Amino acid sequence: MKCPYCGGLETRVLDSRQTEDGYVVRRRRACDSCGRRFTTYETAEVSMMMVVKKDGRREAFDRTKVKNGIVRACEKRPVSMDQIDQVVNSIEQSVYSSGEKEVTSGFVGELVMNALRDLDQVAYIRFASVYHEFADVEKFAEEIDKLRQNSKEEHLDSGDAPRTVRIAIDGPSGAGKSTIAKKVASRLGFDYIDTGAMYRAVGYKMRKEGISPDDSKAVHALLEHTEIDFRNGRVFLDGEDISDRIRTPEISKAASECAEIPEVRTKLVEIQQEIGRSKNAVMDGRDIATRVFPDAQYKFFLTASPEERASRRYREQKEKGLDCNYEEVLRDVRERDYRDMHRKTDPLRKAKDAVEIDSTNLSEEETVGAILSRIHIQKEK
Ligand code: DC
Repeated sequence: MKCPYCGGLETRVLDSRQTEDGYVVRRRRACDSCGRRFTTYETAEVSMMMVVKKDGRREAFDRTKVKNGIVRACEKRPVSMDQIDQVVNSIEQSVYSSGEKEVTSGFVGELVMNALRDLDQVAYIRFASVYHEFADVEKFAEEIDKLRQNSKEEHLDSGDAPRTVRIAIDGPSGAGKSTIAKKVASRLGFDYIDTGAMYRAVGYKMRKEGISPDDSKAVHALLEHTEIDFRNGRVFLDGEDISDRIRTPEISKAASECAEIPEVRTKLVEIQQEIGRSKNAVMDGRDIATRVFPDAQYKFFLTASPEERASRRYREQKEKGLDCNYEEVLRDVRERDYRDMHRKTDPLRKAKDAVEIDSTNLSEEETVGAILSRIHIQKEK
């Protein structure tokens, strides 16, 4: 390799070291002509990953660009180049292990934000101000408040950590919770628990057996003889796979009605707590962070405007070839929000310590990135 100082052709490797994570080899070299020393880095070449920018343009993922942004944010901060290289390596690894052929610039941005948050808080705020285009000083104050709040939670978390990791994703209907929760679970290798499907299963059984929500004796008897479980992403009611049958507008209505019955909630919450105690899980619903697992390590409130949620549902129905009308879908979304937020037992609300993610203007991948970037799981060695 040519010497970068004098262009001499004869250079020697003095020392080779792997970086801590083992993905990069760092070599110290000396030039035989001028005697000066320099460092080279060797990384594996893997198939090209594309980054989709906000305006839709695509360009190849370039770790140098990521590094330059981080170096700028860390200027005059007590952060070494080795630390920066480690951060860039881990971002590169997350990008390539995303399982996608392309990722959005938002996804990469969230990974950088996440890494800087742990590395140096001043660098984090600098980067966030550019990345999120802070318009005024208020935005800085808000971001600093969030940082302070997170530091407090991490301090509390460092006590006796529970064995299983629980990630709660609550939010109104149609916010994309199940799609996002499923992807987050699959990326982390966790189980995905769709608690809405449990209310749907009970609603389905009540309807099938002709039980009215007001008949508390019959509801009690039904719950005594009801078993719900999840296997390979399918929902089983009393041993029967009912996954497809519970996705109709009638069962949505029946689920919403039965979700107002306190006894139904008590029974389903117990089952959900039992599941979450035994395995790492991503659970989505309305009351996961407020009732089922108020001690969940990660809590998210995923929302989107009613209009956006209605358009997504409208498009889904149309794609399935179902006849529907946008105004009706919007009315239905608003009605369900009202019911979910105003029921007496465990109404839908954002937990005080949940991170709110508004997906109105985010793609699926950006929303997944926004969640994953806030999750720090220590992998067992
Ligand atoms: O998320 P979904 O649309 O599949 O939920 C079906 C119904 O169940 C919905 O009306 C809200 C209710 N539900 C609830 O009350 N609590 C949960 N944890 C999950 C769903």
